[in-house]
Amino acid sequence: MKTSQFKEHLSVVIVGHVDHGKSTILGRLLADTGSLPEGKLESVRESCRLNSRPFEYAFLLDALEAEQRQGITIDMARCFFETPRRRYTMIDAPGHIEFLKNMVTGAARAEAALLVIDAKEGIQENSKRHGYMLSMLGVKQVAVLINKFDLVDYERDVCVDIERDYSAFLENIGVRAVSYIPVSGRNGDNIVSQSPNMPWFDGPSVVEQLDRFELPGDRAARPFRMPVQDIYRFTEDDDDRRIVAGTIESGTVAVGDEVVFCPSGKESSIVSIEAFSAPECQQICAPHATGVTLRTQIYAKPGEIMCRKADTQPQIASRFRVNLFWLGRQPMIKDKTYKLKLASARVAVKLADIVTVLDASELSSVDHAEQINRHDIGECVLETVRPIAFDFVSEHEGTGRFVLVDDYEIAGGGVILARAEDGGSVLEQHVSTREFSWERGLVGPGDRTARNHHQGKLVVFTGNAVRSRELARALEQRLFLSFMNTYYLGMSSVLEGLDSDVKTNLCSRDEHIRRLGELARIMTDAGLIFITALSDVDGYDLAALRLLNTPNEVLVVHVGENQLAPKGVDLEVAEETDARSAVDAALKLLSGRQVIQDYCI
Ligand code: GTP
Ligand code: MG
Repeated sequence: MKTSQFKEHLSVVIVGHVDHGKSTILGRLLADTGSLPEGKLESVRESCRLNSRPFEYAFLLDALEAEQRQGITIDMARCFFETPRRRYTMIDAPGHIEFLKNMVTGAARAEAALLVIDAKEGIQENSKRHGYMLSMLGVKQVAVLINKFDLVDYERDVCVDIERDYSAFLENIGVRAVSYIPVSGRNGDNIVSQSPNMPWFDGPSVVEQLDRFELPGDRAARPFRMPVQDIYRFTEDDDDRRIVAGTIESGTVAVGDEVVFCPSGKESSIVSIEAFSAPECQQICAPHATGVTLRTQIYAKPGEIMCRKADTQPQIASRFRVNLFWLGRQPMIKDKTYKLKLASARVAVKLADIVTVLDASELSSVDHAEQINRHDIGECVLETVRPIAFDFVSEHEGTGRFVLVDDYEIAGGGVILARAEDGGSVLEQHVSTREFSWERGLVGPGDRTARNHHQGKLVVFTGNAVRSRELARALEQRLFLSFMNTYYLGMSSVLEGLDSDVKTNLCSRDEHIRRLGELARIMTDAGLIFITALSDVDGYDLAALRLLNTPNEVLVVHVGENQLAPKGVDLEVAEETDARSAVDAALKLLSGRQVIQDYCI
């Protein structure tokens, strides 16, 4: 027999309608494969006797849970057992919400599933729902266990009927169960070996079936993806290095590899790999948690995905077609902002379009429904407030699944199927509706430009936080002294004023940009040269500001730190440039773009 350490390993989830016998079957598997700690079975039997309640195999799981649970924070019971061939992690979800939540967040990962149906009660709502959820989550290997055969006198017909009906259902959703096994969890029939009570059945026992499931491909051999969880700074004096930390979803990375952060597109290469509480190493692979240091000082953010430049790259988009399962108390609707969590990214998202809604237990579908009700499955188009990096679930489950949060609660989850065609984005539609309904006064922009002798314009200073603020204010002062209509708005005025109610919201940064853009639209329409300083902006923030400020324009001045300027910068100013020369350069830019007239400077 192989030693445990080198044995194959498979994670299997067990699902099914409430009370159909999932925990009993798991308890049986543990007991009958000799995987229980010495004396456990006897002590549970004894405590049942003392409490005068009948012994249940399901109690074994509860008894083990207390011991095995330490340090595990997921609301699913897990148990472990071995066959001569493999080690198994079995996952038992108390209900479908927990099941979905854990599967979609990746807290539990299953490569195969056992779906339990009560022989007496037959196919129930969740038998179908779970079948659908497995297919949606990409769990392709499913064996159906028809349980409690002792209650139907081990009748063959029961098996035939359920197999016929359930396989018709699965076929509809493009799934094929690898086997249908009649079992009795309570009596142990067909759990580890063929039961003499069902001589008519010539298929595998549950344990044989488990050993027949195929192993998943090697995650370490796939393209490299590490969702960035956090960036830590070394704290020693003069040490400006940062550790980019996360858990590797797939692939392998080595010292010297060139990496790219998605969606920002920032690039660097790996200088060192720091494994936690272990010596430094040259190479590391999925599924390890690690931290790396980079050759250049780039400002990658938590939520980005670090990829190897040499590997196929993830998708980057803000509109994508998904299959999602809705669990929220309130239906999912179009004009509401939800939060999407994908790998380590958190971003505001809206339901842009519903293609079809499917009632998962009835399998009836409605095209172009208005909303997605609780427990429905929707094929729809989502739009995030800014582009995110992801993979299609068919290629990488880990970076292809997401969770939706409504009001701080997990309200749904799903998988990304494809990019959505670039129809007008929700933001573009918003801007065009806004412009259509813009109530114009009798004084037009041309009138203001003629009287002010300059145009209205938004000027954004980015880059070094301290210097960009200093230069933005110096520009305002110079313009003002030249009799121009100008206004500098500082970040904190926005955060404590206009934005004070969104500070606690995790999506506040995008919302902050949105409000600033709307405000800029008004200020520039009023003919002002409206100036602000924003540190830490990227090309997507600038694109959003540009769009929101439409039809007026934005000029961007980047005050260089040793970091890359985002795309779409109009002027770069070195960090050490004195204020006077920097303002001169900004004025030159303004006159070059006909915002102000030449004689003013
Ligand atoms: P939830 O976790 O609540 O969804 O239930 P479950 O699917 O884990 O079911 P569980 O194993 O707790 O079993 C539910 C009931 O069915 C218990 O009373 C079991 O004793 C009974 N049961 C389970 N398997 C069998 C079986 O093979 N035969 C008979 N007669 N009863 C069974
Ligand atoms: Mg149970």
